[in-house]
Amino acid sequence: MQVGSLIAAGYDCEIFEAGPGRVVRRSRDGRSLEREAAVMRHARRHGFPAPEVFDADGPDILMEHVAGPSLLEETARAPGRAAEHGELLAGLLRRLSTVRSPGWLQAAAGRPGNRLLHLDLHPGNVLLTGDGPRVVDWANAARGAPGADVACTWLILATATVTQPSLEEGRAGLLAAFLDGVDPAAARPHLRAEARRRRAERDLTAEEQAEIDRFLAREAGEASL
Ligand SMILES: Nc1ncnc2c1ncn2[C@@H]1O[C@H](COP(=O)(O)OP(=O)(O)O)[C@@H](O)[C@H]1O
Ligand SMILES: [Mg+2]
Repeated sequence: MQVGSLIAAGYDCEIFEAGPGRVVRRSRDGRSLEREAAVMRHARRHGFPAPEVFDADGPDILMEHVAGPSLLEETARAPGRAAEHGELLAGLLRRLSTVRSPGWLQAAAGRPGNRLLHLDLHPGNVLLTGDGPRVVDWANAARGAPGADVACTWLILATATVTQPSLEEGRAGLLAAFLDGVDPAAARPHLRAEARRRRAERDLTAEEQAEIDRFLAREAGEASL
């Protein structure tokens, strides 16, 4: 697809301008994003706020340009509103837990269930608009039990390294409000598997690994992965 200038570079994708109100998300390694586009369309058809998809072709998805800051940027800017942001994240996961997975989507390992899971729903993947939030980055989407999605978000909120002091300041309030709005007991059995998946997915620093181990010891009764 024809693209304009680069507007964001993520872990395994780049986002380019692509005409008025549109962007292209392109995988860095050329892998096809057509399945991801179909997941986004499915979520949206079932009332979940994924960006609108216009086209998908090999490594490219042409979609709505969501003009607005991420929830992460908003928390850094206004840590006093962290509780509101935690509630928003919990509300998104509650909504998603009502959406059945398409039958063709792969099942998340060890997580029986028939719901659509995002499995990376952290504040950097929620963009805010005047018309409500939009959830991006559906690369990990799978079929399974909603507790796994809650465990994934919980683990990230509790352990991700942040560099801005305002984010560290907002962390406790955000996490408390998030846990108030979800079912932590249903998520707890999934914490260890989510920690393992996260470790396999990216290079964690020794400090992050230690933080995850402490978190698991506290919440899952397990000191190591
Ligand atoms: N539809 C969109 N409109 C505007 N910005 C977007 C859109 N999709 C993604 N972005 C921006 O690009 C960043 C990276 O995209 P994302 O889909 O999260 O990829 P990655 O897997 O690389 O994290 C996002 O955090 C967001 O800032
Ligand atoms: Mg992302």
